[in-house]
Amino acid sequence: MVHVRLRGAPMIVCSCNVLTDHAIRKAVETRAPRTAGQVYGCLGCSAQCGRCAQTIRQIMDDAVAGACAKGCAAACHHHPHTAAAEAAA
Ligand code: FES
Repeated sequence: MVHVRLRGAPMIVCSCNVLTDHAIRKAVETRAPRTAGQVYGCLGCSAQCGRCAQTIRQIMDDAVAGACAKGCAAACHHHPHTAAAEAAA
């Protein structure tokens, strides 16, 4: 059997709570959760088996990287120069 994922089609990331990558991405973009546990909360559920947590963290990291790539100001704490200055302070 060949599995074909349509480009842009939602993919179930959390089978316990039936959460799609689209729903997770939207929650990350609009609610800015800082942990995978907060993502579940934003979507009105909680972790069950936890197998999806790593994928949720990856989606969070990708969203932050994408936002920074679009126009991260020097004051953004994700910006490498700002992070280095904060670490030195
Ligand atoms: S797959 Fe997400 S909690 Fe089980």
